[in-house]
Amino acid sequence: MACTAPKRVCIVGSGNWGSAIAKIVGSNALRQKHIDDRVTMYVYEEMINGKKLTEIINEQHENVKYLPGHKLPPNVVAVPDVVDAAKDADILIFVIPHQFIRTLCSTLLGKIKPTAIALSLIKGFDRAEGGGIDLISHIITRHLKIPCAVLMGANLANEVADEKFCETTIGCKDVRNGPLLRDIIQTDYFRVVVVDDEDTVEVCGALKNIVACGAGFVDGLGLGDNTKAAVIRLGLMEMVKFVDVFYPGGKLSTFFESCGVADLITTCYGGRNRKVSEAYVKTGKSIKELEDEMLNGQKLQGPFTAEEVNYMLKNRGMEDKFPLFTAIHRICTGQLRPAGFIDCIRNHPEHMNSNLDTYESGRSIRNSKL
Ligand SMILES: NC(=O)c1ccc[n+]([C@@H]2O[C@H](COP(=O)([O-])OP(=O)(O)OC[C@H]3O[C@@H](n4cnc5c(N)ncnc54)[C@H](O)[C@@H]3O)[C@@H](O)[C@H]2O)c1
Repeated sequence: MACTAPKRVCIVGSGNWGSAIAKIVGSNALRQKHIDDRVTMYVYEEMINGKKLTEIINEQHENVKYLPGHKLPPNVVAVPDVVDAAKDADILIFVIPHQFIRTLCSTLLGKIKPTAIALSLIKGFDRAEGGGIDLISHIITRHLKIPCAVLMGANLANEVADEKFCETTIGCKDVRNGPLLRDIIQTDYFRVVVVDDEDTVEVCGALKNIVACGAGFVDGLGLGDNTKAAVIRLGLMEMVKFVDVFYPGGKLSTFFESCGVADLITTCYGGRNRKVSEAYVKTGKSIKELEDEMLNGQKLQGPFTAEEVNYMLKNRGMEDKFPLFTAIHRICTGQLRPAGFIDCIRNHPEHMNSNLDTYESGRSIRNSKL
């Protein structure tokens, strides 16, 4: 019988989520024969109290800056050079803030195994030349010439690291890779559902951070839970519409996976985008100032993603079709006062749509386009 070598895994990134996922992947690697024990983790080097973060991680088995209080398995090895970390890997798990992905791909180009596969945990978009947006997984595939699946879900990193039960979604078109990726990630407290609707999974993961900013504005303005629920619902409808318009062929069922409605809810209550957006309304400080003050090196995704989405909507003359996303972008960039937020969504197309046609068809699942 042919004996295949165990698959080597590299985690490209070591922030809050990168470290939490390293804890899972490291312990799964020790338990599963078809995964190599040694898991490399690319760490963007920084000094912590005069000592290199990579040295601290390799000696204390803890990322004291981005995931303090949680031990990483000792087989997770921190490596400061991304090429060294990734060159022998069969599976590359990308988990860095999206603004760094292009530079990182240029560094890795031609230096990884041509047979490697990727899994992106990165939430966000990048600008495409010519006015659109690029999905991060598409950037990885195009630049590195390897297939890239995605993992998104209601997964606040600290709670996952605490081993509190949650679910996640892997979007993977290639049926051969889905089970392998699930084996690397799944534990008894972190349950994985694999779907083939890759793009919708990824778009959900990026767009929900915009909605979370809206939820933070609602909190900052002292509006109630009903208002927040309205913002979440309108946000969800804009997410569905966005996929329908720009990524046709997506499935409505994907929005009911962890990457859809569940991630939206958790981010609108617990995430950093909500927290900073609330402070933005209350303090009047800039988003950048608050990111520096409140997040200890972690990066915000929502305002960035809102800007990229707006760039595309503006180019296509579609800002008014997505009033929630548009208002959030304008507030984040100081073009609109937070107090004007609700006025922008009072006459949302969702409310104007309540004509007899929609009423009669009842938006039945059978009639739904996605
Ligand atoms: N934290 C969560 O709860 C969570 C959950 C799901 C998904 N995500 C997503 O995972 C991705 C990574 O987020 P995170 O929470 O692990 O990171 P983070 O925001 O906690 O940390 C920022 C990371 O970026 C690194 N960095 C800074 N400058 C860099 C540079 N020039 N080049 C490369 N790296 C640099 C830092 O060293 C640090 O590791 C994001 O797309 C995020 O949306 C996060």
